[in-house]
Amino acid sequence: MFSKESPIGIIDSGIGGFSVARKVQKLLPRENLVYLGDGANTPYGNHTAEEILTMTRYMLRFMEEKGVKALLVACNTISCLIDQYRDEMSCPVLSVVQAGADAVKDLDVHKVGVISTCFTASTHCYPDLIGKAAPDKVVISHGCPDLANVVERNVGRPEGQALIDADVQKNLEGLVRDEQIECCVLGCTHYPLVEENIHRLFPGLRLLDPAEQMAKDVLAYLERDGLVNDGPQPGRLDIFTTGSAEEYTMKAEKVGLDPVTSVQFYPPMKL
Ligand code: DGL
Repeated sequence: MFSKESPIGIIDSGIGGFSVARKVQKLLPRENLVYLGDGANTPYGNHTAEEILTMTRYMLRFMEEKGVKALLVACNTISCLIDQYRDEMSCPVLSVVQAGADAVKDLDVHKVGVISTCFTASTHCYPDLIGKAAPDKVVISHGCPDLANVVERNVGRPEGQALIDADVQKNLEGLVRDEQIECCVLGCTHYPLVEENIHRLFPGLRLLDPAEQMAKDVLAYLERDGLVNDGPQPGRLDIFTTGSAEEYTMKAEKVGLDPVTSVQFYPPMKL
């Protein structure tokens, strides 16, 4: 039903999933990628579970129509609810939270911090999944009320860097200075887009970007099912957004996505 040339779908509330798309482009440069960011309704982290599920189903229908051979839920907030929609897709659906929890298992550290949206933190999905994969780890989860939104609006804008820095500082200093975490999981896909800011403000703090593991997971699935695209051409990246195509074009380039084949507007669902 799927072919090697079928695209891989990537969804997020906004531009956060670009951090996943760039890891997939690096590991699987011949795969065709279709990205959908719900720029009109971002951020998701301050919505209710019911609203998040409604918006997610709208994106699932879009991806089903595109005939994706795998769907990467490149949004931790949406991944927390995966058990409620996974079976509605005809392809495998991969969770970035599961990827993050699996990656923690292999770390040689004891005390791990997780920063995420408030919704993700409220579901306890990271502590629960890490607890299953690596019961010896101590996990301290912290919800950041506004950081995803600050990143969404300011990535790639020199005049927005001070706002990003202030929010990173506010959310991380307790975990680093008081809790003395040994590693911090970036439990929202927007955060790896400002990894440089975090390194500058907290030099020496080890960071874990779940996207790395997610890219390996999709490769393992494609290899297992004989679906790796081994054609001669570099893969396409077609980006769709319910927000501004112009903004997405600028930000995709700033965060290092390459190639970007097209950026198009897709009508948002009305909540
Ligand atoms: N990038 C999303 C995540 O990983 C969420 C940001 C949001 O819309 O609140 O959770």
